[in-house]
Amino acid sequence: MYPCSISPTSLRISLVVLALLLSVSVCSELKVLVRLPDGQVTAETLESDSERDIISVEFRHTDGTLITFLADFKRHVKILRALVLGEPERGQTQYQGLCFISRLEHGEIIPSEAMVRLRQKNPHVVRTAEEKRALERMSMNMAVNLTLSWPLSSHIRSMCRDAQDFIYTREQDVKYWLEKGVDASIFKVFPQNVESAGLPSCSATTDLWQPCSCSYTLRLEWYPCMLKYCRGHGPSPYKCGIRSCSKAYRFDFYTSRKQLCMWDEES
Ligand SMILES: *[C@@H]1O[C@H](CO)[C@@H](O)[C@H](O)[C@H]1NC(C)=O
Repeated sequence: MYPCSISPTSLRISLVVLALLLSVSVCSELKVLVRLPDGQVTAETLESDSERDIISVEFRHTDGTLITFLADFKRHVKILRALVLGEPERGQTQYQGLCFISRLEHGEIIPSEAMVRLRQKNPHVVRTAEEKRALERMSMNMAVNLTLSWPLSSHIRSMCRDAQDFIYTREQDVKYWLEKGVDASIFKVFPQNVESAGLPSCSATTDLWQPCSCSYTLRLEWYPCMLKYCRGHGPSPYKCGIRSCSKAYRFDFYTSRKQLCMWDEES
């Protein structure tokens, strides 16, 4: 989703690197076949740009949902986006975008400069993650204004365009960003907190127009979460591969009406 464009600076760096006869690129795209929990195989695209210091991971679920993860290392921000297919015959839009923005912790995913060097020997192998990380539950109790989001991360605007009123973040992360000098006007508190007892869960609500607490669970099926080190003849170990992880997130967030949270009724 982030075509690697050659900017004047990256061109300059590539030329210098070429002159040094080192095959270091600043941009890369890797396609990996990944097994989904229902047994189906999906083609996952991993893109990285070491200069802009980002990695994105994208794949489509069997039900049509497109999941995209973006790590912005420069800003310590991660964006998880789901484009959920709607059912127009039930009065829903073609698809609904959900964007969840939170702080990117150190070591959650390998650095972008390692990612751009990652190659796979056999692209036909269907992969499953070596390590299944536990579900992380996130209470997304604040909204992010798309128009003003640029200082938080310049990637929110393009990533979350289709999510508009569904761009969520956490109070604890907002506190951190405010301390870092990000302007408070970007964030908005919801009228009711998802944890407050007064707000019913959407799955327990029958009234389509009632505000409720919606939940959405997604799993990043396969991503390089750690570098592996090998011992050679030299004195120190060297980077020789990656460890793959899968990780699930459950997001709880406020919706102004149950109609906007239709997937919650099946669960
Ligand atoms: C986002 O910010 C812009 C500019 O200040 C404002 O016009 C708009 O109403 C805001 N959107 C929301 C949803 O608050």
